[in-house]
Order: sequence, then C-alpha cells, then structure tokens
Amino acid sequence: MSRILVIGAAGLLGGRLMEGGKSKYEMYGTYKENKMKGSNLHHLDVTKREEVFSILERVKPDCVVDTAAITGVDYCETHPEEAWLVNVEGTKNVAEACKRAGAKMIFLSTDYVFDGKKLDYHEKDKPRPLNYYAKTKLIAEHVLEALDVNYIVARTAVLYGVGGLGKTTFVSWVIENLRKKENINVVTDQHNNPTYADNLVEILFALYRKDANGVFHVTGLDCMSRYEFAKRIAEVFDFDDEYIHPTTTPQLNQIAQRPEKVFMSTNKVERITGIKPTGVKEGLERLKKQLEMIE
Ligand SMILES: NC(=O)c1ccc[n+]([C@@H]2O[C@H](COP(=O)([O-])OP(=O)(O)OC[C@H]3O[C@@H](n4cnc5c(N)ncnc54)[C@H](OP(=O)(O)O)[C@@H]3O)[C@@H](O)[C@H]2O)c1
Repeated sequence: MSRILVIGAAGLLGGRLMEGGKSKYEMYGTYKENKMKGSNLHHLDVTKREEVFSILERVKPDCVVDTAAITGVDYCETHPEEAWLVNVEGTKNVAEACKRAGAKMIFLSTDYVFDGKKLDYHEKDKPRPLNYYAKTKLIAEHVLEALDVNYIVARTAVLYGVGGLGKTTFVSWVIENLRKKENINVVTDQHNNPTYADNLVEILFALYRKDANGVFHVTGLDCMSRYEFAKRIAEVFDFDDEYIHPTTTPQLNQIAQRPEKVFMSTNKVERITGIKPTGVKEGLERLKKQLEMIE
C-alpha cells in the first residue's frame, strides 16, 4: 500500500484528499495553524526547510501532495513577501525534500497562470499571469521543472466541496447568503471551470496510479461566469435566485487583476486517466447530498 503525505491536510482540498485516500493508501497529513489530532498528523511549516526534510525522513512517503499555499488572491497582492515565502520557497523546500527521499510530488497550481486572452487553454499554452498569486504559482512550477523531481503539476480552478475548516469558498458564500435571503452582486465577466474537490481528488489519485509526470489541467468540465455559477447553485440548492444580481469586475474594485475568461481544456487528463471531469450540475448535486448528510 502506497504511503501518501498530504501537506495542508486541514485545507479544503487537503481534507478531501485525506478522506478520499484512506481506503486505498496509508494517509499522513500536516497542518500549520489549524491543529489536527491523530497519530498520522504532524505540524509543519513549509517555509522551515529542516522541518520539511525531517517530516519526509520520518514518514517516508511514496508520494507527497503539496496543497499548502497562501491562496487569497488579493492577500498575495498586498503581502508579496509572505506569498513568495510560502508559495515559492515553501514549494522548493518540499520539492528538494521529495527529491532526496525519492518521493513523487503532486503540486497544485492555478488556471490564473493564464491571461484569459485565448479561447481554450491546453497544457502547452504559454502562461502569462496577471496577478502576484499566479506569478508565485508559475514560478513554483518552474522550480519543480528545474529540480527534475518526479512531479505532477495540477492546475485547477474555483474549488468547491465540504470541509476546509470554515474557509469561505465562492459556493459556500453564495449558499450562506441565499439561505439568509441576502442580496449578492456577482460578476458576469470572470469565467472559469468550477472544480468539485472530490472529483479533483479522484483524478489526482488516478494520475498517481498511472505514474503520470508533468503539467495537467485538472478542473471541472464546464466554463462559466461566476454569475452563471451562482444561478446554478441556486437551482440545485432550491434557493430563490432573485437575490443574485449581475455586476462587473470594474465595479468590484478587487485589488488583484483577474483574467476575464480562462477555459481549461482537460483533454490530456481525460486521455491519461480515462476519467471525464465532473460538470457543475453533477458536482453541485454531489455536494448537496454530502451537506445533507452532515447537517
Ligand atoms: N481554492 C481554489 O479555488 C483554488 C484554485 C486554484 C488552485 N488552488 C490551489 O490548490 C491548493 C489547495 O487549495 P485550498 O483551497 O484547499 O487551500 P486552503 O483551504 O487555503 O488550504 C491551504 C492549506 O495550506 C496550509 N498552509 C498555509 N501556509 C502554510 C505553511 N507555511 N506551511 C504549511 N502549510 C501551510 C494551511 O494549513 P493550516 O490551515 O493548518 O494553517 C491550509 O490548510 C492550493 O495550492 C491552491 O493554491 C486552489
């Protein structure tokens, strides 16, 4: 049975990886601020190089899934040193430790590495990040390539799912507000492929089992605006959609620039794993069932 170490196990994706992997793999996890208890769970700050090496020496994983990151896009813009330290230096520490330990590394990157000027994006397309968060992710991708570690880079987008220790995702924000019958303004001019976290987990493990290497686009199937996505959420969760109002990016005054439309092609990952990524309707329906079981 392979041993898998998830860095950032308390996060949205990290939590789903721990859950999704436990029937097939020996799962280990790390946390930083959000303390987790259990014999397979360890504290780790990826910016501390010796800590990273020491964890890998203790756990001896076959594969490390590095989900740790400063993920706030606007926060990264205003805290560039911190973003660099975690997203670039932290990733480098993990990659070097993986190389030393002979472990495979799966790293999570973002669709924001692209500027949104093209119709659809394949893995070979040239990235051009518009914000600092995406720049740090792209530089981290280059670090992995340069180190020649055995890696998978999975570029994903707009994650939704259960867990994440209270972290607000776009989906949880929409659900919260519509449940309280609060008005929300949602942009019509930012398009991405919303990605159901459990489906991302299934595909990441499938790529691992295929011993795939290199860069992969691993997102949901459908590309849509946040406004359309909010409407779908209302439909699946049976909320009144009259509280969802269209707005545009210039009206929002977001700190970091976002690409207008990044449509990620998932052909490569489908070809290699044989798995067709989940579309928005199916992803939201699966999420709804999970939430009903928890509530
Ligand atoms: N969410 C999205 O829509 C999206 C889109 C594209 C790409 N991604 C990428 O996918 C990955 C997972 O995203 P997510 O939404 O699951 O992230 P998340 O919920 O914000 O979790 C990130 C985790 O990183 C850990 N972390 C932060 N700084 C750390 C440090 N210095 N050392 C060790 N751990 C640290 C945190 O641990 P503690 O909680 O214990 O402090 C946190 O649980 C990230 O790499 C993100 O950039 C996400």
